[in-house]
Amino acid sequence: MSKLKIINVVGARPNFMKIAPIVDEMRKYAGLEQFLLHTGQHYDHKMSDLFFNHLGLPKPDCYLGVGSGGHGLQTGKVMIEFEEVVKKEKPDFVLVVGDVNSTIACSLVAVKMGVKVVHVEAGLRSFDRTMPEEINRILTDQISDYLFLTEKSAFKNLEKEGIDSAKAHFVGNVMIDSLLKHREKAATLPILEELEIEPRNFALVTLHRPANVDDPVVCTNLIKTLCTISEKLPVIFPVHPRTRKQMSVFGLDEVVAKYPNLRLIEPMGYLDFLKCTDNAKFVLTDSGGIQEETTVLGVPCITARDNTERPITAEIGTNVIVGRDTDRLLAEANKILAGEGKKGEVPELWDGKAAERIVKILWEREGE
Ligand code: UD1
Repeated sequence: MSKLKIINVVGARPNFMKIAPIVDEMRKYAGLEQFLLHTGQHYDHKMSDLFFNHLGLPKPDCYLGVGSGGHGLQTGKVMIEFEEVVKKEKPDFVLVVGDVNSTIACSLVAVKMGVKVVHVEAGLRSFDRTMPEEINRILTDQISDYLFLTEKSAFKNLEKEGIDSAKAHFVGNVMIDSLLKHREKAATLPILEELEIEPRNFALVTLHRPANVDDPVVCTNLIKTLCTISEKLPVIFPVHPRTRKQMSVFGLDEVVAKYPNLRLIEPMGYLDFLKCTDNAKFVLTDSGGIQEETTVLGVPCITARDNTERPITAEIGTNVIVGRDTDRLLAEANKILAGEGKKGEVPELWDGKAAERIVKILWEREGE
């Protein structure tokens, strides 16, 4: 019998930790042939290669090198290149994760070529269609044959959009598989000493959403709030390339220069960032995945967005959504500093075995 062939797709930073446990698990099945494709949506060493190293991901079998650009250009370039790969490799499945432009681009190519699509982290909705990721999520789910869910709230979202519930499987969270696998190793790294910070005595920040960093007023207010927080404790801010650019455009480099306790650093590798998250007093972010990671680590998380597509992190986890209201943000930070931060529980099935469940389901239904 010929092997079941799957192309696993990654493109941007948050994809790498989601695909790593899936690749690992697929390698255990002699009847599965996995092919790793990197679109090159993220390409800087610190946004890409470093993650492959830290996560023990094999070198991609194919690298498209599409790079940055407007949504149309970036999505279109991935589609043009990916179509040729699918023609040549003739996979049975294309597996995509998350909600980035590479996710929708590769799914769309696959479905039109009659190749089944597997979407991992399906069914999440922010109900905010101004977010490019929301469009990517809705469309990818519509054309997927297998939808793997991190939280049960996603069932309802899919049902409302007319997606057959027989295609949806609640399996847990592959990003948390990676976190649990690497947490101990990360704990041995000297990153806190290198940054000269102490456990539970610093805040960790990430900001990169267009809605926060592309608007001069919103971006300036957020950065000024970080300056204020840094008067109380060191603030470690690994800056995404998009944010770095916008801060210079808005003249914020001179503002932050006056606050030595606000430490702007290069994007961090996976393991260093994990250790910092695990030891932070709190995390302030607009990322999706970090809301989940902090919930599992029991670290308070302040989310500078109006909504979350990962409601379980706010319902039972450590996450508090403050929007762009900087007064609320400061009030929440002060609450945490006063020892009244939100405590939480770990969501159901976020136990390190999501990839195992996913590959088992695929194999039982398609491989045997
Ligand atoms: C993308 C995802 C977002 C995800 C984020 C994680 C989409 C629509 N957005 O946003 O969901 O949370 O990745 O980081 O897919 N750049 C570099 N080097 C790189 C990558 C980007 O300099 O390696 C700069 C470029 O100027 C680029 C900009 O960052 O134009 C934005 O990159 P892009 O991939 O378009 O989107 P992100 O903001 O990274």
